[in-house]
Amino acid sequence: MAEFALPKNSKIGKGKHFPAPGARNTRTFKIYRWNPDQDSNPRTDTYEVDLDKCGPMVLDALIKIKNEIDPTLTFRRSCREGICGSCAMNISGTNTLACTKAIEECGKGEVPVYPLPHMDVIKDLVPDLTHFYAQYASIKPWLRTQTPAPDRERLQSPQDRKQIDGLYECILCACCSTSCPSYWWNGERYLGPAILLQAYRWIVDSRDEDTGARLDDLEDPFKLYRCHTIMNCTRTCPKGLNPAKAIAEIKKLMLARVA
Ligand code: SF4
Ligand code: SF4
Ligand code: FES
Repeated sequence: MAEFALPKNSKIGKGKHFPAPGARNTRTFKIYRWNPDQDSNPRTDTYEVDLDKCGPMVLDALIKIKNEIDPTLTFRRSCREGICGSCAMNISGTNTLACTKAIEECGKGEVPVYPLPHMDVIKDLVPDLTHFYAQYASIKPWLRTQTPAPDRERLQSPQDRKQIDGLYECILCACCSTSCPSYWWNGERYLGPAILLQAYRWIVDSRDEDTGARLDDLEDPFKLYRCHTIMNCTRTCPKGLNPAKAIAEIKKLMLARVA
Protein backbone atom coordinates (compact mmCIF):
# COMPACT_ATOMS: atom_id res chain seq x y z
CA MET A 1 0.00 0.00 0.00
CA ALA A 2 1.31 3.46 -0.87
CA GLU A 3 2.27 5.58 2.10
CA PHE A 4 -0.42 8.21 2.59
CA ALA A 5 0.33 11.93 2.57
CA LEU A 6 -1.99 14.89 2.25
CA PRO A 7 -1.86 17.26 -0.74
CA LYS A 8 0.70 20.05 -0.46
CA ASN A 9 -1.82 22.78 0.39
CA SER A 10 -3.84 20.84 2.94
CA LYS A 11 -5.31 22.31 6.16
CA ILE A 12 -8.35 20.14 6.74
CA GLY A 13 -11.27 22.05 8.23
CA LYS A 14 -14.79 21.21 9.37
CA GLY A 15 -16.90 19.94 6.48
CA LYS A 16 -20.53 19.38 5.58
CA HIS A 17 -22.44 16.17 6.07
CA PHE A 18 -24.88 14.95 3.42
CA PRO A 19 -27.09 12.14 4.82
CA ALA A 20 -29.08 9.68 2.68
CA PRO A 21 -32.56 9.74 4.30
CA GLY A 22 -34.49 6.47 4.11
CA ALA A 23 -31.62 4.43 2.64
CA ARG A 24 -30.90 1.05 4.29
CA ASN A 25 -27.60 0.08 2.72
CA THR A 26 -25.36 3.13 2.88
CA ARG A 27 -21.64 3.80 2.70
CA THR A 28 -20.07 7.06 3.84
CA PHE A 29 -17.48 8.77 1.66
CA LYS A 30 -15.24 11.37 3.29
CA ILE A 31 -14.00 13.54 0.46
CA TYR A 32 -11.35 16.25 0.29
CA ARG A 33 -12.77 19.59 -0.82
CA TRP A 34 -10.93 22.74 -1.75
CA ASN A 35 -11.78 25.57 -4.08
CA PRO A 36 -8.84 28.00 -4.42
CA ASP A 37 -11.14 30.62 -6.01
CA GLN A 38 -13.11 30.88 -2.76
CA ASP A 39 -9.95 31.48 -0.73
CA SER A 40 -11.16 29.13 2.04
CA ASN A 41 -9.22 26.39 3.81
CA PRO A 42 -9.46 22.84 2.52
CA ARG A 43 -11.96 20.62 4.36
CA THR A 44 -13.50 17.18 4.08
CA ASP A 45 -17.22 16.67 3.40
CA THR A 46 -19.03 13.42 4.17
CA TYR A 47 -21.63 11.95 1.83
CA GLU A 48 -23.82 8.95 2.53
CA VAL A 49 -24.48 6.98 -0.64
CA ASP A 50 -27.32 4.48 -1.04
CA LEU A 51 -25.43 1.45 -2.34
CA ASP A 52 -28.69 -0.21 -3.48
CA LYS A 53 -28.96 2.58 -6.08
CA CYS A 54 -25.30 2.91 -7.03
CA GLY A 55 -22.84 1.03 -9.26
CA PRO A 56 -20.06 -1.03 -7.66
CA MET A 57 -17.04 1.23 -8.19
CA VAL A 58 -15.84 4.28 -6.26
CA LEU A 59 -16.22 6.30 -9.47
CA ASP A 60 -19.90 5.28 -9.59
CA ALA A 61 -20.31 6.72 -6.08
CA LEU A 62 -18.52 9.96 -7.03
CA ILE A 63 -20.71 10.37 -10.12
CA LYS A 64 -23.83 9.68 -8.04
CA ILE A 65 -22.75 12.26 -5.46
CA LYS A 66 -22.12 14.85 -8.18
CA ASN A 67 -25.37 14.11 -10.06
CA GLU A 68 -27.73 13.73 -7.11
CA ILE A 69 -26.24 15.27 -3.96
CA ASP A 70 -23.60 17.94 -4.57
CA PRO A 71 -22.90 19.22 -8.10
CA THR A 72 -19.96 21.28 -6.83
CA LEU A 73 -17.82 18.17 -6.24
CA THR A 74 -15.03 18.18 -8.85
CA PHE A 75 -13.01 15.23 -10.17
CA ARG A 76 -11.59 14.00 -13.47
CA ARG A 77 -12.77 10.93 -15.33
CA SER A 78 -13.26 9.83 -18.90
CA CYS A 79 -13.12 6.17 -19.96
CA ARG A 80 -14.43 4.58 -16.73
CA GLU A 81 -12.54 1.39 -17.57
CA GLY A 82 -8.94 1.90 -16.43
CA ILE A 83 -7.57 3.14 -19.75
CA CYS A 84 -7.35 6.94 -19.67
CA GLY A 85 -5.78 7.41 -16.21
CA SER A 86 -7.89 10.51 -15.50
CA CYS A 87 -9.57 9.27 -12.32
CA ALA A 88 -6.36 8.58 -10.36
CA MET A 89 -6.77 9.60 -6.71
CA ASN A 90 -6.00 8.41 -3.19
CA ILE A 91 -8.76 6.07 -1.96
CA SER A 92 -8.58 4.47 1.48
CA GLY A 93 -4.91 5.43 1.70
CA THR A 94 -3.83 4.02 -1.66
CA ASN A 95 -3.25 5.75 -4.98
CA THR A 96 -5.47 4.03 -7.50
CA LEU A 97 -8.11 4.51 -10.20
CA ALA A 98 -11.61 5.32 -8.94
CA CYS A 99 -13.17 3.51 -11.90
CA THR A 100 -11.50 0.17 -11.19
CA LYS A 101 -11.58 0.33 -7.37
CA ALA A 102 -14.63 -1.53 -6.05
CA ILE A 103 -16.40 0.07 -3.10
CA GLU A 104 -16.46 -3.29 -1.35
CA GLU A 105 -12.64 -3.42 -1.55
CA CYS A 106 -12.38 -0.23 0.52
CA GLY A 107 -12.34 -1.90 3.93
CA LYS A 108 -14.80 -1.06 6.67
CA GLY A 109 -16.26 2.29 7.75
CA GLU A 110 -15.87 5.60 5.96
CA VAL A 111 -14.11 5.65 2.61
CA PRO A 112 -11.57 8.51 2.59
CA VAL A 113 -11.00 10.01 -0.86
CA TYR A 114 -8.19 12.52 -1.45
CA PRO A 115 -6.37 13.87 -4.49
CA LEU A 116 -3.03 12.28 -5.45
CA PRO A 117 -0.58 13.11 -2.62
CA HIS A 118 1.99 15.90 -2.69
CA MET A 119 0.61 17.56 -5.79
CA ASP A 120 -0.77 21.07 -6.06
CA VAL A 121 -4.55 20.90 -6.20
CA ILE A 122 -6.59 22.70 -8.86
CA LYS A 123 -9.91 21.90 -7.17
CA ASP A 124 -11.16 19.09 -4.92
CA LEU A 125 -9.84 15.80 -6.37
CA VAL A 126 -8.11 17.36 -9.41
CA PRO A 127 -4.31 17.58 -9.11
CA ASP A 128 -2.16 19.87 -11.25
CA LEU A 129 -0.26 17.56 -13.62
CA THR A 130 1.45 20.32 -15.65
CA HIS A 131 4.94 19.50 -14.36
CA PHE A 132 4.36 15.75 -14.69
CA TYR A 133 3.43 16.14 -18.37
CA ALA A 134 6.39 18.49 -18.98
CA GLN A 135 8.67 15.79 -17.56
CA TYR A 136 7.03 13.28 -19.90
CA ALA A 137 7.65 15.56 -22.89
CA SER A 138 11.29 15.94 -21.78
CA ILE A 139 12.08 12.27 -22.55
CA LYS A 140 10.87 12.74 -26.13
CA PRO A 141 8.41 9.83 -26.01
CA TRP A 142 8.28 8.92 -29.66
CA LEU A 143 10.26 6.72 -32.07
CA ARG A 144 13.55 8.47 -32.89
CA THR A 145 15.36 7.14 -35.96
CA GLN A 146 18.46 7.97 -38.03
CA THR A 147 17.98 5.63 -40.99
CA PRO A 148 15.67 6.54 -43.89
CA ALA A 149 12.05 5.52 -43.46
CA PRO A 150 11.26 2.18 -45.16
CA ASP A 151 8.51 1.97 -47.79
CA ARG A 152 6.22 0.44 -45.24
CA GLU A 153 6.38 0.20 -41.43
CA ARG A 154 9.55 -0.41 -39.37
CA LEU A 155 9.40 -4.13 -38.58
CA GLN A 156 9.96 -5.80 -35.25
CA SER A 157 10.38 -9.51 -34.46
CA PRO A 158 7.93 -11.11 -32.00
CA GLN A 159 10.83 -11.46 -29.51
CA ASP A 160 11.73 -7.78 -29.81
CA ARG A 161 8.10 -6.82 -29.49
CA LYS A 162 7.95 -8.75 -26.20
CA GLN A 163 10.56 -6.38 -24.74
CA ILE A 164 7.97 -3.66 -24.37
CA ASP A 165 5.40 -5.86 -22.62
CA GLY A 166 4.84 -4.52 -19.11
CA LEU A 167 5.81 -1.03 -20.35
CA TYR A 168 3.48 -0.05 -23.17
CA GLU A 169 0.46 -0.64 -20.93
CA CYS A 170 1.30 2.38 -18.75
CA ILE A 171 -1.58 4.87 -18.83
CA LEU A 172 0.36 7.76 -17.23
CA CYS A 173 -2.05 7.97 -14.33
CA ALA A 174 0.75 9.23 -11.99
CA CYS A 175 -0.31 6.90 -9.14
CA CYS A 176 3.26 5.60 -8.91
CA SER A 177 5.12 8.92 -9.03
CA THR A 178 2.85 10.47 -6.41
CA SER A 179 3.42 7.51 -4.07
CA CYS A 180 7.20 7.82 -4.32
CA PRO A 181 8.88 9.64 -1.39
CA SER A 182 11.84 10.57 -3.60
CA TYR A 183 9.44 12.21 -6.04
CA TRP A 184 7.64 14.03 -3.21
CA TRP A 185 10.87 15.69 -2.07
CA ASN A 186 12.75 16.03 -5.38
CA GLY A 187 9.96 16.09 -7.95
CA GLU A 188 11.30 19.25 -9.58
CA ARG A 189 14.37 17.39 -10.80
CA TYR A 190 13.80 13.65 -10.24
CA LEU A 191 11.76 12.26 -13.15
CA GLY A 192 9.92 9.74 -10.96
CA PRO A 193 8.81 6.17 -11.71
CA ALA A 194 6.13 6.87 -14.33
CA ILE A 195 8.37 8.93 -16.58
CA LEU A 196 11.35 6.62 -16.10
CA LEU A 197 9.21 3.61 -17.03
CA GLN A 198 8.20 5.48 -20.18
CA ALA A 199 11.84 6.36 -20.87
CA TYR A 200 12.77 2.68 -20.61
CA ARG A 201 9.88 1.79 -22.93
CA TRP A 202 11.65 3.72 -25.72
CA ILE A 203 15.17 2.65 -24.72
CA VAL A 204 14.28 -1.05 -25.23
CA ASP A 205 12.20 -0.59 -28.36
CA SER A 206 14.25 -2.35 -31.06
CA ARG A 207 13.03 0.13 -33.69
CA ASP A 208 14.38 3.17 -31.86
CA GLU A 209 17.82 4.34 -33.02
CA ASP A 210 18.60 6.93 -30.37
CA THR A 211 19.31 4.69 -27.38
CA GLY A 212 22.69 6.29 -26.62
CA ALA A 213 21.25 9.81 -26.59
CA ARG A 214 18.34 8.66 -24.43
CA LEU A 215 20.77 7.21 -21.85
CA ASP A 216 22.94 10.35 -22.05
CA ASP A 217 19.89 12.44 -21.21
CA LEU A 218 19.21 10.38 -18.07
CA GLU A 219 22.85 10.40 -16.86
CA ASP A 220 22.19 12.95 -14.16
CA PRO A 221 22.33 12.78 -10.34
CA PHE A 222 18.69 13.82 -10.02
CA LYS A 223 16.75 12.64 -13.08
CA LEU A 224 17.45 8.93 -12.49
CA TYR A 225 19.51 8.30 -9.39
CA ARG A 226 17.04 9.58 -6.79
CA CYS A 227 15.32 6.18 -6.90
CA HIS A 228 16.22 4.33 -3.70
CA THR A 229 14.22 1.18 -4.47
CA ILE A 230 11.54 1.86 -1.86
CA MET A 231 9.04 0.09 -4.19
CA ASN A 232 5.93 2.16 -3.34
CA CYS A 233 5.55 2.71 -7.08
CA THR A 234 5.29 -0.96 -7.95
CA ARG A 235 2.99 -1.71 -5.01
CA THR A 236 0.51 0.97 -6.03
CA CYS A 237 0.38 0.71 -9.85
CA PRO A 238 -3.27 -0.01 -10.72
CA LYS A 239 -2.18 -1.64 -13.99
CA GLY A 240 0.11 -4.13 -12.21
CA LEU A 241 3.28 -2.73 -13.80
CA ASN A 242 6.73 -2.61 -12.21
CA PRO A 243 8.30 0.85 -12.60
CA ALA A 244 10.98 0.03 -10.00
CA LYS A 245 12.23 -2.80 -12.23
CA ALA A 246 12.27 -0.51 -15.28
CA ILE A 247 14.40 1.97 -13.31
CA ALA A 248 16.75 -0.82 -12.24
CA GLU A 249 17.11 -1.90 -15.88
CA ILE A 250 18.06 1.64 -16.93
CA LYS A 251 20.69 1.72 -14.16
CA LYS A 252 22.08 -1.61 -15.41
CA LEU A 253 22.38 -0.23 -18.94
CA MET A 254 24.20 2.81 -17.53
CA LEU A 255 26.66 0.51 -15.75
CA ALA A 256 27.16 -1.63 -18.85
CA ARG A 257 28.20 1.49 -20.76
CA VAL A 258 31.03 2.32 -18.37
CA ALA A 259 32.17 -1.31 -17.86
S1 SF4 B 1 3.44 2.80 -14.16
FE1 SF4 B 1 1.38 2.29 -13.42
S2 SF4 B 1 1.00 3.77 -11.76
FE2 SF4 B 1 2.70 4.55 -12.95
S3 SF4 B 1 1.77 5.96 -14.42
FE3 SF4 B 1 1.98 3.96 -15.43
S4 SF4 B 1 0.03 2.93 -15.08
FE4 SF4 B 1 0.11 4.64 -13.65
S1 SF4 C 1 11.38 2.24 -6.21
FE1 SF4 C 1 12.25 4.21 -6.78
S2 SF4 C 1 10.68 5.17 -8.01
FE2 SF4 C 1 9.68 3.48 -6.92
S3 SF4 C 1 8.85 4.43 -5.07
FE3 SF4 C 1 10.87 3.71 -4.59
S4 SF4 C 1 12.26 5.44 -4.90
FE4 SF4 C 1 10.33 5.87 -5.94
S1 FES D 1 -11.94 7.04 -15.89
FE1 FES D 1 -10.32 6.44 -17.24
S2 FES D 1 -8.96 5.36 -15.94
FE2 FES D 1 -10.65 5.80 -14.65
